[in-house]
Amino acid sequence: MESALEWHYARAALDWQIDLGVDEAICELPVDRFAAEAEAREARAAPKVAAAPAPAPGVAPKSDPVADALDEAKQRASGADTLDALREALAGYEHCELKRGARNLVFCDGVPGARVMIVGEAPGRDEDIQGKPFVGRAGGLLDRMLEAIGLSRTENVYITNVMPWRPPQNRDPLPAEIAMMQPFLSRHIALADPDVLIITGNIACDALLGRRGITRLRGQWTEAEGRPALPMFHPAYLLRQPHLKREAWADLLELSAKLKATG
Ligand code: URA
Repeated sequence: MESALEWHYARAALDWQIDLGVDEAICELPVDRFAAEAEAREARAAPKVAAAPAPAPGVAPKSDPVADALDEAKQRASGADTLDALREALAGYEHCELKRGARNLVFCDGVPGARVMIVGEAPGRDEDIQGKPFVGRAGGLLDRMLEAIGLSRTENVYITNVMPWRPPQNRDPLPAEIAMMQPFLSRHIALADPDVLIITGNIACDALLGRRGITRLRGQWTEAEGRPALPMFHPAYLLRQPHLKREAWADLLELSAKLKATG
């Protein structure tokens, strides 16, 4: 009897949340957003990394967890000789807290070895569910943009993100999180070996160019990881600011001209 009552209470609580607009269960426990915000503020001041694995018996523990996290990222990334090995190396990397909250590792989509490699920011909800980059609304726009200049992820484009795990509530990745992923991204680009990089949005500019300011950077060819690179507005930003599609179109024509000139 008591358990039937509990079931009805739980059911009523669930219905109430659905009425309020909840459409996704991502955690087993409720999230205290005030505490999460306070924690994010603290983390911005002093970025946290996941605790390092316990040292082997007899080995003195290292003192700097951020340096340890970076060292291990570099070692894992440089030890990967194929894209599959790099995916495995990333999957086994335990220092990034974002991994704990993500459903899937989002590594890549498209054609490895394609002349064009697009670097996005981080997976959102749809990408987290499907384990592939740019499959939500922003991805739909990206596909239409590529199609307009004869490109597509099924034929001649390779896609990845700076972050392979979805940040909670789609927040921006923290500087320490970007720094940890940098060696993996660098190796990813070397192994995919594109002729040109398209860097979408500020997070990707930060990771690959060491600076932000997409409004000034977009449309100007630069170099990243030793290759020609073109920063562009992020498709999600274009969905929110559709009047900027004119600039995005100019950048796409720039890309198309570059491919023709160097193909
Ligand atoms: N935005 C990104 O930067 N990457 C994705 O995969 C999806 C949205």
